[in-house]
Amino acid sequence: MNKWLWTSILLFGCTDDAVDTSINSETYVETPEWKDTITTKDVGADVTFSTAKECGECHPAHMAEWEQSMHAYAAHSPVFDAMAQKAFRDTSGEVGTFCTSCHSPIGAIQGEDGTITAKDRSEISRDSVSCEVCHSAVDHSSPVGNLSLELTTNGDIMGPYESDFTEGHDSVQSDFLQSAELCGSCHDVFNYPGLRIEEAYTEYSTSPAKEMGMTCQDCHMGTVPGAVSSREVGPIAEVEGKVYPDRERSTHRFIGPDYSLLDEFPYPDDLEKSRQAQEDMFAQINVLLKNAVEVSDVVLARQNNEVVLNVTLQSLTSGHNVPTGFTSERQLWLDVVVKNVAGTVLFSSGQLDSYGDLYDDHSWEVLNDPNKLDTQLVNLQSKNKMRYGELELPNATETVFPFDADYIEKHSLRPLETRTVSYTLPPALAQQELEIDVQLKYRNLPPYILRNLQLDELVERLQVFTIDSQTIVEGIE
Ligand code: HEC
Ligand code: HEC
Ligand code: HEC
Ligand code: HEC
Ligand code: HEC
Repeated sequence: MNKWLWTSILLFGCTDDAVDTSINSETYVETPEWKDTITTKDVGADVTFSTAKECGECHPAHMAEWEQSMHAYAAHSPVFDAMAQKAFRDTSGEVGTFCTSCHSPIGAIQGEDGTITAKDRSEISRDSVSCEVCHSAVDHSSPVGNLSLELTTNGDIMGPYESDFTEGHDSVQSDFLQSAELCGSCHDVFNYPGLRIEEAYTEYSTSPAKEMGMTCQDCHMGTVPGAVSSREVGPIAEVEGKVYPDRERSTHRFIGPDYSLLDEFPYPDDLEKSRQAQEDMFAQINVLLKNAVEVSDVVLARQNNEVVLNVTLQSLTSGHNVPTGFTSERQLWLDVVVKNVAGTVLFSSGQLDSYGDLYDDHSWEVLNDPNKLDTQLVNLQSKNKMRYGELELPNATETVFPFDADYIEKHSLRPLETRTVSYTLPPALAQQELEIDVQLKYRNLPPYILRNLQLDELVERLQVFTIDSQTIVEGIE
């Protein structure tokens, strides 16, 4: 057994099969300096870009979707601001505009520095990943990731169609706009300070989806989030009441598990409308997550005095791992409760402590009383690891933020992977009738991260989504 695998078994108490930990240290050395890969800054501060509002004047339907998306939220996010400030402090400023370059590309191009937060950004900087960032991108440099985008500055707008219309702007049919490399240019984040923080694109590049010719856009810009689905057909532009041709339209909501933690987003002047947008977002996140993973089997094996509960997870997506992206923030875990006929709980794992955290190494309750550690917890969140002492594993401790880590240990399911995890139950359960309830849960952010960023007041806004559940009753033979 190799030493990497061994570490994760120590941590999770799972069996060999249950653990698939890919550690991204091989790519650690090869990745270039981030300073060389952020290419949009070469555009020059004097180039003007349209705000989303300006594009939205003729594209109201696209605007209505984009403005609710996380692409519009990226530079409003209080979590982003707090984390970027922390990265700035921890590196004595060396991080520069690394973080803001992706979360607010035009702001960074126009010279805003890495210390700026949402309240002080210019209007166009607050547009975050705005229309023109994607629609003026013409190519990427190598490797894909770290905003390796090249933007055209001649005002041409890249689109999927061969338009002959030129009112508003010149349109250029672009294969790059429809490629995974457009998305991958921001959805692979690496090398600050030398490791791979996000790998949605890297995972995709060896996935069955890619093999079958599917792109990110196929699953993320159709009518159903997270699955290849049909496109609506409708007018793509409206200029002074005149409606432009009906075409296949792509949705610009880009549903992912993140959602706004602010009342005033996206409509600062209409909090009720913002609340409705949020509710609709939650409904769509539920659909996305149900397209991602399910509990396919729950089996209790009792032999002599050994009682083992096997739970099988099935990834339903061929596109990338689940979870993907910012996996050291994403919690995907099993909540398991085993009761007897009288309803007494005999075993449990995956519950939350009084601060809302899982009973893992970050839990305040566990820090006070190590006996409370959930030793059999199954949580597919990535672990940020920092080595200490001899450079031999398992001499590593867990850190809260990826930018403090030496390496990141991934536990996510590979595309379409089936994985069985096992819980060892107390031997006394061999002789009893049992009711076993298994729930698969998801949360975009754990409370301990918010507390570490002094954002305690946002904890109550976190939502836990139940993706799937199964209950079985086991009699005695
Ligand atoms: C003055 C109105 C107007 C403004 C402002 C405007 N557009 Fe357009 N746009 C149009 C019209 C009209 C079409 C439809 C062209 C056609 O297919 O006939 C169009 C088409 C497009 C297309 C599809 C092009 C293709 O051929 O695939 C994209 C993409 C697009 N616009 C993006 C943008 C972006 C991004 C902005 C802001 C930078 C923007 N538009 C600003 C009027 C406008
Ligand atoms: C076959 C469909 C499919 C394809 C192709 C696909 N995705 Fe996804 N994507 C999903 C599903 C389902 C989820 C929800 C599960 C998850 O978070 O991993 C998701 C989630 C995401 C998330 C949110 C991740 C998180 O947990 O924070 C991002 C970001 C994302 N995808 C980006 C991409 C990018 C970029 C590409 C192309 C390089 C891509 N996806 C290709 C189906 C797909
Ligand atoms: C994250 C990148 C991204 C952002 C941000 C973005 N778009 Fe797009 N847009 C695309 C891609 C990719 C397509 C083509 C999708 C396809 O064909 O599968 C597209 C297609 C379009 C089209 C052509 C018709 C259609 O629906 O496919 C229009 C018009 C358009 N976008 C307008 C806008 C406007 C206006 C904004 C801002 C309010 C915007 N886009 C923001 C990536 C983006
Ligand atoms: C200029 C950089 C950039 C480009 C290009 C880009 N994205 Fe993103 N994307 C981001 C950032 C930054 C976020 C996170 C915003 C946040 O949550 O604060 C994000 C968020 C998302 C999310 C939501 C994730 C969540 O956890 O909720 C999805 C889905 C997504 N992007 C898909 C795509 C797809 C598909 C494309 C290509 C058509 C694309 N992105 C192109 C920067 C980019
Ligand atoms: C190469 C582009 C890129 C760079 C550079 C980048 N990010 Fe991100 N960031 C993303 C994308 C894409 C997502 C969405 C991933 C997902 O949903 O899984 C994201 C998501 C996030 C989120 C979660 C969304 C939210 O608003 O809560 C935070 C926080 C964040 N990034 C902070 C940072 C910090 C801090 C840095 C600098 C150390 C940084 N990012 C650098 C692209 C980038």
